[in-house]
Amino acid sequence: MKKTILTGDRPTGRLHLGHYAGSLKRRVELQNSGEYKNIFIMIADAQALTDNFDNPEKVRQNILEVALDYLSVGLNPDISTLFIQSQITELTELTFYYMNLVTLARLQLNPTVKAEIQLRDFKTSIPVGFLCYPISQAADITAFNADTVPVGEDQLPMIEQTREIVRRFNHIYDDVLVEPKALLPDNQVCMRLPGIDGKAKMSKSLGNCIYLSDSAEEVQKKIMSMYTDPTHLKVTDPGHIEGNTVFTYLDAFCKPEHFEKYWNEYMSLDEVKEHYQKGGLGDVKVKRFLNSIVNEELEPIRERRKEYEKDIESVYKILKAGTEKARETASQTLYKVKNAMKLNYFDNKELLTERLTRL
Ligand code: TRP
Repeated sequence: MKKTILTGDRPTGRLHLGHYAGSLKRRVELQNSGEYKNIFIMIADAQALTDNFDNPEKVRQNILEVALDYLSVGLNPDISTLFIQSQITELTELTFYYMNLVTLARLQLNPTVKAEIQLRDFKTSIPVGFLCYPISQAADITAFNADTVPVGEDQLPMIEQTREIVRRFNHIYDDVLVEPKALLPDNQVCMRLPGIDGKAKMSKSLGNCIYLSDSAEEVQKKIMSMYTDPTHLKVTDPGHIEGNTVFTYLDAFCKPEHFEKYWNEYMSLDEVKEHYQKGGLGDVKVKRFLNSIVNEELEPIRERRKEYEKDIESVYKILKAGTEKARETASQTLYKVKNAMKLNYFDNKELLTERLTRL
């Protein structure tokens, strides 16, 4: 049986190389594999509001940016359904019923939620909407009957939470929800690409991102300023590759054919690493090589972006049509859910009247 994918991103900024390595590139491969019957890619604006409720403008303005990023990396709207979360009102209704199946203690145990509470310094004033976003994420996934959710490692607790909700629902009411599985990036380094400053994660607030929409000049400037090995002062000094961001990026993006094309003094990345560790290989040369590789990857993305930017009207139409299609599927699931809960009173009179008419 052909499978179904659902995944998405919060529109809080343009997407960057970390998103690309960790999930976007894989999504395009999955899309083009032909193994999936339905692919739903969601711009999670409602979820973004759970921690940006006081800045709705930011969320709204980034919807089109994320859509452009999606289309530029090669998500094809003829195959993948691109849509906007907040317009699928069925999702909030599902969330409301799923809330009964989750305890407060369980939400507070969710490691991703815990980390985000700390990061945002909510302390004891945690907005309820924020705390409940894992439940709304379960609604996102189940509404589309997704069995496969391609995500980064940080999302695993969300998928686990969804699986628990599905099992409880199916056990209490009826077997209608599909239990999903996470699909992680297959390349370990791609799981979490560090920022150009060497910090654990690329993040807009840290200002350490290479954006998919950056120009070739901007990318070059950022790569040349990248964090490497602070003990590698002179070219002749032995260098370290552990924790050296330039090498982490090379591990993520370098392919054997790049040597012939851009750096024929070496045959493989292992050779480069060996030389660097021994001493005698300067950072600038390695950075130039990385720059060629990253730009080769980003160039077609930039080109496609330029085309779509000339025709924003078509992007708007893609989102509108995708959202209509997604809504159809979500409404079928909501119908099944309410049916299982015996809430569809006005489709079936008996549900309300059977007891009294029996008298
Ligand atoms: N939580 C995801 C993120 O922060 C976005 C998201 C919302 C999502 N709903 C989803 C991802 C459902 C996968 C499935 O990026």
